[in-house]
This record gives sequence, structure tokens and C-alpha cells, in this order.
Amino acid sequence: EKVVLAYSGGLDTSIIIPWLKETYGYEVIAMAVDLGQGEELAPLEEKAIKSGASKIYILDKKREFVEDYIWPTLKAGAIYEGKYLLGTSFARPLIAKCLVEVAEKEGATAVAHGATGKGNDQVRFELGVKALNPNLKVIAPWRLWNIRSREEAIDYATARGIPVPVTKDRPYSMDRNLWHLSHEGADLENPWNEPQDDLYLIITPPEQAPDKPTYVTIDFKKGIPVAVEGERLDAVTILEKLNDLAAANGVGIADMVENRLVGMKSRGVYETPGGTVLYLAHRELEALTLDRMTMHFKEIVAAKYSELVYDGNWFSPLKKALDAFVDSTQETVTGTVRMKLYKGNCTPAGVKSPYSIYSEDLVTFGAGGDYDHKDAAGFINLFGLPLKVRALMEKKAGLR
Ligand code: ARG
Ligand code: SIN
Repeated sequence: EKVVLAYSGGLDTSIIIPWLKETYGYEVIAMAVDLGQGEELAPLEEKAIKSGASKIYILDKKREFVEDYIWPTLKAGAIYEGKYLLGTSFARPLIAKCLVEVAEKEGATAVAHGATGKGNDQVRFELGVKALNPNLKVIAPWRLWNIRSREEAIDYATARGIPVPVTKDRPYSMDRNLWHLSHEGADLENPWNEPQDDLYLIITPPEQAPDKPTYVTIDFKKGIPVAVEGERLDAVTILEKLNDLAAANGVGIADMVENRLVGMKSRGVYETPGGTVLYLAHRELEALTLDRMTMHFKEIVAAKYSELVYDGNWFSPLKKALDAFVDSTQETVTGTVRMKLYKGNCTPAGVKSPYSIYSEDLVTFGAGGDYDHKDAAGFINLFGLPLKVRALMEKKAGLR
């Protein structure tokens, strides 16, 4: 029997290979997905085979990741607990989808992942698999075996001739892709500790960023970024370009204590340079093109959407329904936004759209426009009627 393992090449997933063979007698097929983690994935082939896998799939899913996972979440404006741009959360369902596809192709009966029993990632992998192929068995070795520390993992690997990385690892638990890099653990576990400057691997600390601002224009079409500086580019390139510009200017750091789905609070520091610019720019364009009712309702949807994504309910009926709502709102979210990047700040510096419903004519303090000041008096009388009735009652009843 075969099992497909979501493989990263790290020690944590490498030791899973011999463990699956020894514990269940499985043939182990490794699978690595390129989501833009910025690492050379080719060496994984040799590593996986050396660790005992019968073969390895290396899948480039960068484009699918950006177009089908990142853009929908951006359009929804979903941000978890006001800060987290969900970079790991929406990567897990895509990896789960790949696991299912490889398992079906290989005729495997099980899939396995290297997430621990304490985190969100296990939930996301497994909900994804359940939704896409309910018959597959899921094995999560970190919940099953007795290996508890890095030292024990090294011992386990050494005893089986598995190459152990010689470079001294950073003490943090990290997850990186095209959208973000997350840091958790070590000194960050105490929320009183400020992140050290050398924590950041993508973003230049704001204090060290240039003293002159960088301006960038982004074109959106129906809520989706399509061009940078007027140049039409593919989705992956757009994100890479914005990552570089934002990172150089210290933009995109989020430091937070968040509520994990499994009950505990955890402290995370996120680097999401391009994503931060895109969220702020997209919101600016919506401010110009969405009516008030839709905008306010969309904020409610965004909160729910962020929770669904965080919780691993990517392939759920509600998520699909919310996408339909969001897409409907994005019909006219087309236009150009100019953003100013400066020492960790990202502020709007201009916005325009052929579908703008912002009317200078209407709002101007000067004369003109199709607006009669006198209409406001009656409107306020009716709008304020409940307050007036309540106040009269309170007076009569001696409540004030
Ligand atoms: N706390 C974030 C989340 O739940 C980041 C998780 C990072 N995962 C990891 N295996 N390092 O989405
Ligand atoms: C893990 O526990 O595997 C990483 C952290 C998380 O999933 O939240």
C-alpha cells in the first residue's frame, strides 16, 4: 500500500518517511509543492530518496496559488483578527488538494503531513483532504509518535542514515511562500519581547529603509491586480514586484497575538510586503467604486471569510457562496491606485476609476450639483424621530 507525504525537505518531514515504512509497511511517495518558498526544490529529489521515499513529485503551483487562493482572499478583504493576511492559512488547502490528486493518481490509500497536534495547520490539511476525498486515510505522525524534541528527531534520523542539515537552524517555526513568511516560537513566545531586527528575512526594518519614499501604481480589474507601473504582468510577477518594492521600504510587518482554532493563543510575526500594499490599495479603490450599503455589508463578509480561511474551511459551501457575493461586488472595482511606501508606512497617494461613484460635483463645498440643502431638513426629522420620541418618553417618565 502507498501513502503520499507532504514533504518539505526539512528534518521534521524527512523522519516521517522511515517512520511510515517501519510502522505501517507503506511505500512512501513524497510530494513537495512550490508555492514560492524561495528555496531550490530540485535537491529535494535526492533527499527524499535517501530518506527512503520510492519517488517524489515536485509540483509548481505558484500561479494557481496566486490566482485561485490569494486573489479571492484579497478581493474579499479578509484579514484575520485585524492583522493577519492569512499567508499560511490559504496555502494548506492547496497542498491538501495536491495530496489528494497525487494519491488518486498513484492509487494510494493514505496521505500524511508533518504538522503538530498543537496547531492550525493539521486542521487545514485534514479538512482539505476530507472535503476533496473523504475515503483517504490521513496520518499525522507528530500526533502519534514519541519524538518530542529536535534532539530526538536528529537521533532518529541519524540512526537511519538520513542526512541531517548541518547549518545551524534558526530557532523559529517558519512558513514561507510567495505571499508571506511567518515566524513563531523561541523568544517570540513571550509577547513582551520585541522582535529583533535580524528576525526579518524579507523586509528591511523600517528604521533602515530609505529616507525617500517610493511611489508605485497598481491597476486593478474587477478587484484583481493586473498591472504595476502601467505594465501588464502575470499574477506571480505582480506579486514578486510588489514584494521587492514594499520589502525595501519596510512595509508589511505584522506582530500579533492570535487565537488559534485549537484553543490557545499564540504569538506570530508576519512579513507580508506585497500583500500589505495590495490590501491597502484594493480598499482605496473600493472606497471609490462601492456604494455604502455594499461596502458595509462586505466588511461583515470579510470577517466571516477570514475565519473560514483561518479555520481550514476553504472547500466549504459557505466559502463558495461568499466568493459569489464578493465577485458580484467586484464588477466595477477597476481602476488605478497610487501608493506611497515610506519607512514601514504604506499610504494612498491617488486613486481613479472609470466606475467611480465619487462625485466631486455633489460633495463640493462650492455651489452646484444636483443637491438641495433643504431636502436635508426633512430627512433629519424622520431619521431622528425615534431618538426624539424616546427622549420625550424619558422626560415624562422621570427617567432623566
Ligand atoms: N499562525 C499562522 C497560521 O495559523 C502561521 C502558521 C505557520 N505554520 C508553520 N507550520 N510554521 O496560519
Ligand atoms: C504546527 O503546529 O504544525 C505549526 C503551527 C500551526 O499549525 O499553527
